Amino acid sequence: MRLMIVGGGGREHVLAEAATRSPRVDHLICAPGNAGTSAIAENITIDPTNIDGIIATAKDHAVDLIIVGPEAPLCAGIVDRAAAEGLRIFGPTAAAARIEGDKSYAKDLMRKCNIPTAEGRSFTRVADAKRYVATRDTPQVVKASGLAAGKGVVVCDDPADALNVLDDMMVAQRFGEAGATVVVEERLRGTELSVLALVDGRTIYVLETAQDHKALNDGDQGPNTGGMGAFSPSPLATPEVMHIIDGEILVPIVDGLRTEGAPYRGVLYAGIMLTPGGPKVLEFNCRFGDPEAQAVLHRLRSDLIEAIEATVDGRLDSVELEWDPRPALCVVMASGGYPEAYEKGKLITGLEDATALEDVKVYHAGTRRVETDVVTNGGRVLGVTASGDTIAQARDRAYSAVDRIHFDNAHYRRDIGQPAE
Ligand code: AMP
Ligand code: GLY
Repeated sequence: MRLMIVGGGGREHVLAEAATRSPRVDHLICAPGNAGTSAIAENITIDPTNIDGIIATAKDHAVDLIIVGPEAPLCAGIVDRAAAEGLRIFGPTAAAARIEGDKSYAKDLMRKCNIPTAEGRSFTRVADAKRYVATRDTPQVVKASGLAAGKGVVVCDDPADALNVLDDMMVAQRFGEAGATVVVEERLRGTELSVLALVDGRTIYVLETAQDHKALNDGDQGPNTGGMGAFSPSPLATPEVMHIIDGEILVPIVDGLRTEGAPYRGVLYAGIMLTPGGPKVLEFNCRFGDPEAQAVLHRLRSDLIEAIEATVDGRLDSVELEWDPRPALCVVMASGGYPEAYEKGKLITGLEDATALEDVKVYHAGTRRVETDVVTNGGRVLGVTASGDTIAQARDRAYSAVDRIHFDNAHYRRDIGQPAE
């Protein structure tokens, strides 16, 4: 088949690698892809949120299946549009993607379905939100309800902090329309777990678990980012914990969405806090996590495209995936300045040396090919990923590879995978 992958991050590079291993795929297009995908696919320069453009390109190139990586086109209805045009596409409809694109809706639905989550409320008026904060005596988290490229959640230490953030979102409109509604909720304590599942409307197939490191700096210091590294599996995801997550979180939300008339098809990502009171949902995402996908799919031995086709066709109950039992760990190398402003166009060296190491793969994210060079082209630049017999060995291998790679002002954490031991 002719397959198109929409997006250009590390998640899309690992999806593209999985697609090249599938005997089902004869031709692979990445839209827009990056320097990594250019070595294994035809890159077509197009913005993933340009839905008309993506659909026209898919038709022009006689694409048989589209896989959508990022949330923005999903929430904007790319799946509905493609389906209406008779194209086969993997991902949730806009109505189902609301689970990520509208946190206030997600919170209401969780409440309706009795899903364990932080206690909180939604507000459209800043005065009401401030009054609510004043009645709380524990730290709160303030979230822009709409999509804000991973920056719309602020974990606050005290009420004064929360009041400032409310002004920033609702009065100064830092995130525009995305902050017109905010969710204020209690700050949960614990360790975060990322649970990704394929869902075909009804059947749920849980993938191997992962842990992501969201904070910019070592020791979980600094602002939250899209994710600075991940490893899979999580040693915290015991059968008992996964049983609770399945029964109290995944099954009720999938049933709830179906009842709402928005059956979920695609990858459902539950961001979970493992609290002393049990697993609680921080957020649902409507797509693969990045960099979780790099760590998880690095371990996949089965044909991902076969599983994705089964999901699209509603035959997920026939799927059984095989995994490398060894852990995998991904270290994100970012541009200095990320998640705020950063420079692009820095020459990247050492990629071949790094990839020559045992069990190492370098997934590209914000990279671009310029003639024979590879240069930086985004905030998160590379996901240096390795397998090992233990998380410690995977980590040693990943950091040996990181040490061989250079670009000006590179920033990465030195402690990915450390809390897991
Ligand atoms: P979200 O997009 O809602 O997952 O938020 C992004 C990140 O903010 C999460 O991965 C957590 O690290 C943090 N976060 C969100 N909600 C909470 C909460 N209620 N308590 C503590 N941390 C949170
Ligand atoms: N790594 C977190 C996310 O993909 O949302």
